[in-house]
Amino acid sequence: MRDVTIDNVTDVVIASLGDKAPIGDRQREVMTSLIKHLHGFCKDVSLTHGEFLYACDYLARAGRICDDKRQEFILLGDILGVEVLVDMLTHPVEGNESVSTVLGPFYRENPPVLPKGASIIQKHFPNEETVWFEGYVRDAQGKGIEGVTLDVWEDAPNGLYENHDPDQPDYNLRGRLVTDADGHFAFVAVRPVPYPIPDDETAGELLRFMGHHPYRPGHIHFILAKDGYRTLVSQVFDADSDWLDDDSVFAVKDSLVARFEPASDSRTDLKVRFDFVMKAQAATAQLAAE
Ligand code: BEZ
Ligand code: FE
Repeated sequence: MRDVTIDNVTDVVIASLGDKAPIGDRQREVMTSLIKHLHGFCKDVSLTHGEFLYACDYLARAGRICDDKRQEFILLGDILGVEVLVDMLTHPVEGNESVSTVLGPFYRENPPVLPKGASIIQKHFPNEETVWFEGYVRDAQGKGIEGVTLDVWEDAPNGLYENHDPDQPDYNLRGRLVTDADGHFAFVAVRPVPYPIPDDETAGELLRFMGHHPYRPGHIHFILAKDGYRTLVSQVFDADSDWLDDDSVFAVKDSLVARFEPASDSRTDLKVRFDFVMKAQAATAQLAAE
């Protein structure tokens, strides 16, 4: 169509969907809404052409700094509250299942598999506090689940994840634990410290544009997985940390806050007890009932 106008351009673009090649229902749904909201945004703020070009250049710069160690677009999504929103939409909390929260950009696949009670610490820091972290993984009925893998990762006492710090050994403060026959797991970690999310490049530019600080409260990340259960991506937060009420990525949930208490033996400085509940996946639950 020629001579589109401010008033009809949105409808014209939506009407063009699938014009030359068939597209799926979901594709049509997503693109229709995206076009509506993007056009609505441009009209709302009367976006200038200079601002449009700035945004294109900004996205190109964000793309150029992405590599296997830095995923800038997840960071941008986090700063805008998109990852936490998408997580809540994808994983509505059902019953007593543990709450999920954002994955973030620092997960690495295939961490070292460790026996129960092992330490994920490969390099020590002078100011570290060591933590005995243990708990049970149970199903909704309270029965311990055997053979759940828990991938855990956290920042070092200098506030850096191992893959953003050339002075830490590969996979420092990362590990994969497996629950025993009672659903029990345990590992030794360091007390996680608050840290600023990477704010040197385009993520920092966005934070400053929004007038926002980059800090996250101290937390340890978890991914719990076992066939027949919904994979749980979550974090456990230190109840005494700063920034719990002002997380730069909006990911704190009250039920994920745990107290790091003085340890009762000399194994570590502190101890934490935190239990998880995993939800059986519908298809498997159905199979089990058959
Ligand atoms: C993290 O907790 O590792 C994280 C989450 C979102 C953005 C940046 C970091
Ligand atoms: Fe983190």
